[in-house]
Amino acid sequence: MDLYEILMKRRSVRDFEDKEIPDEIIDKILDAALSAPTGGNIQPISIIVVRGEEAREKLDGILGNQPWVKRAPVSLIFCLDFHRAKRWASTFGTDFSGERAVWHFLIAYADVMCASQNAAVLAESLGLGSVYVGAILSKIDKTRNFFDIPEYVLPMMILSIGYPKTIPKNIPKLERDIMVHKEKYEWRTDEELRAAYENKYGDFDETAEDYLKRAYIEAIEADKQGNLGRVEYIKGQLDKLAIKSNAEFLFKVRYPSEAMVELNEEITGSFRKAGFNF
Ligand SMILES: Cc1cc2nc3c(=O)[nH]c(=O)nc-3n(C[C@H](O)[C@H](O)[C@H](O)COP(=O)(O)O)c2cc1C
Repeated sequence: MDLYEILMKRRSVRDFEDKEIPDEIIDKILDAALSAPTGGNIQPISIIVVRGEEAREKLDGILGNQPWVKRAPVSLIFCLDFHRAKRWASTFGTDFSGERAVWHFLIAYADVMCASQNAAVLAESLGLGSVYVGAILSKIDKTRNFFDIPEYVLPMMILSIGYPKTIPKNIPKLERDIMVHKEKYEWRTDEELRAAYENKYGDFDETAEDYLKRAYIEAIEADKQGNLGRVEYIKGQLDKLAIKSNAEFLFKVRYPSEAMVELNEEITGSFRKAGFNF
C-alpha cells in the first residue's frame, strides 16, 4: 500500500488485541514522532510511554469513560513541555518566556500534534491501529499528579496504540467540495450547508443504535468494553431534549454548548496551576 492508501484507509481504532508491541516498533514510532517538524526547532514536547498495567489502569480511571486506554498495550502521553528549555536557558541566565507567550503556546501545541500524527501514521503503516484521546485536556491536574509531571509541562494529547481487533467502518465525513475552497473562501448558502451535513450524517430517523453506530461509535465501544451505560444515557437525552436533527445531537447531546464553555474554568485553572499565565 502506498502512503495515500494507508491514510485513506486509516480509522480510529478503539478495540485492540491483547498483544504486546515489541520494543523496536515502539522505538520507531517514537523516533517518527520526534523527527516531526517543530516551530523554530525548539522541540518543546515530551512523550510519556505508558505500558504498565498500573499506569494504564490509572489513566483509565482518570479519564473515566475511555476504556481503550486500558485495553491498548501502549498509550503515549504527548506533553507540551517548556520545563526543559526553561531550565536549560536559566543555566545561562536566560529567560525563555514560553509559559507567558501565547505565540510559544500555540506553536508548541501544533508541535505536539505534528509529533503525535507522525506517530499515528507510522503506527498505521506498521499494521497497528491508534486513537487520539483529547479528553485528557479536562484531566490535566490528575494526570500531572500521577505521572509526576513538573511545572511548565501540560499533558495535551494521548495516542493509544495497539493491534486492531476491529476497525470501525462507515465513519461519516464531509465531501471534499464543502471543505476545500478555490483561491478564496467560498461562502455557502444555508441550504448548501444543510445538504452537506445531511450527506455526511444521513437522515435523523434511524433507531438510536443504528445512528450511534455511525455518528458516535465511541459510545457503543465504551459500553462494549466498559459497560458504562453511555448508549442508555444518550437515548434518555434524545428523548428528554426532543432531539430531531444531527446538529442538535452534536451540540446539545454530545458537546452541549454551555457545558463545553463551562470547561474553560477547569482547563485554564489547570494551565495556571502548571505555571502558565498568558
Ligand atoms: C484532537 C482529537 C481529539 C480526539 N479525542 C478523542 C477522544 O477523547 N476519545 C476518542 O475516543 N476519540 C477521540 N478522537 C478520535 C476522533 O473521535 C476520530 O478521529 C473521529 O471520530 C473521526 O474518526 P476516524 O479517526 O476513524 O476518521 C480524537 C481525535 C482528534 C483529532
